[in-house]
Amino acid sequence: MTERKENGMEYSVLGKSDLRVSRICMGGAQIVEHGEGSMKKMEEMFCYAADAGVNFVDTARNYGESEETLGKLLKNRRDRFIIATKFSGREFDYGTVKEEISTSLKNLRTDYVDLYQIHWPKMKLLGARENMGPRDYDNIAGTMGRLKKEGMIRYAGVSNFRARHLEEFASEALDLIVSNQVPYSLLWRVYDVDGTAEFCQKHRINFMAYSPLVQGLLAGKFSAADAGTRETSVLFIEPVFAAALRIVDRVREIAEECGGTAAQVAIRWLMEKEIVSAAITGVRRKDHLRENVDALDLPLTEEQLREMDKISMDFQTRYLTAGLEQCTLWTEPEELEKAGIKRPAKN
Ligand SMILES: NC(=O)c1ccc[n+]([C@@H]2O[C@H](COP(=O)([O-])OP(=O)(O)OC[C@H]3O[C@@H](n4cnc5c(N)ncnc54)[C@H](OP(=O)(O)O)[C@@H]3O)[C@@H](O)[C@H]2O)c1
Repeated sequence: MTERKENGMEYSVLGKSDLRVSRICMGGAQIVEHGEGSMKKMEEMFCYAADAGVNFVDTARNYGESEETLGKLLKNRRDRFIIATKFSGREFDYGTVKEEISTSLKNLRTDYVDLYQIHWPKMKLLGARENMGPRDYDNIAGTMGRLKKEGMIRYAGVSNFRARHLEEFASEALDLIVSNQVPYSLLWRVYDVDGTAEFCQKHRINFMAYSPLVQGLLAGKFSAADAGTRETSVLFIEPVFAAALRIVDRVREIAEECGGTAAQVAIRWLMEKEIVSAAITGVRRKDHLRENVDALDLPLTEEQLREMDKISMDFQTRYLTAGLEQCTLWTEPEELEKAGIKRPAKN
């Protein structure tokens, strides 16, 4: 359910929680100090965010010093922000997770987080001994339930979980999960074809859409010369990359037609998806955040939205398969092969 307020911000209730989150969320991977003046720029960005009604920020234990930096930035404004962070470990037993969240809380200078997410399902490809098994599902449910009772977290979420993972949770566990953080954009609609969106909709689990601009690709930041430069991303490998750039060209034309930017068109399209509570945009500066917030007002026509829906789904079904992850390191080699994507030598 989305709602528009007078200051122009749209809010959405996150799944079955009572968290009323702004539909633009600030991504924590970018909220790290990076050289002289960066803290000042982020401070300006947070002042603007608070004024513009942005109340949602996402981070993780494994984003360098992101939690610590956020702790500093939120020092006198904790109550104005809904904080989501992630457990990035591989074992979900209470003792292990409790230790991690205790560190997160210390880093964030708070005594609770609003949303605590399991960053990834357990996967051999990510260095775990096994893929997710029955004990892991029980552990996640038990641990999240206890942390909630203890008041360390208000709600539980997952990230990068497919329908095939979610289906393994017991129904009481599914009642606990309010969100699934996944890459979702005009260039990545895997969850619309593998049953994840449908499953989540049924269980009132909303998407937090990460990489809404595909690391800047949908903002027009890359050209043909950049093919293969980000070889851990399926979208930067041929033949996918050239086809993605054709979509970006069309997005740019639509942006010109409606007086916005390509980034704004990509974000506005995403906002039309009921399953998406918020787009997590990777911003370091006030002007990017402002541009992304202003996307909410972009006057896209029904026809433009329908066209983008069509070209993005055609791209998904022609160049990508449901078994792919956006990151090649996390994709089973046979799935890359099925999609005709050559595995980068580094993998
Ligand atoms: N759960 C997960 O596994 C997972 C994985 C990845 C990311 N995430 C979350 O999602 C967040 C965002 O991910 P992402 O970095 O892939 O997202 P993104 O927003 O798709 O990409 C960020 C890039 O877009 C550029 N950008 C942002 N706004 C722009 C604008 N208005 N105009 C032009 N360029 C713009 C940034 O530029 P500059 O380089 O100039 O700053 C940056 O290079 C992360 O911070 C993290 O919280 C989660």
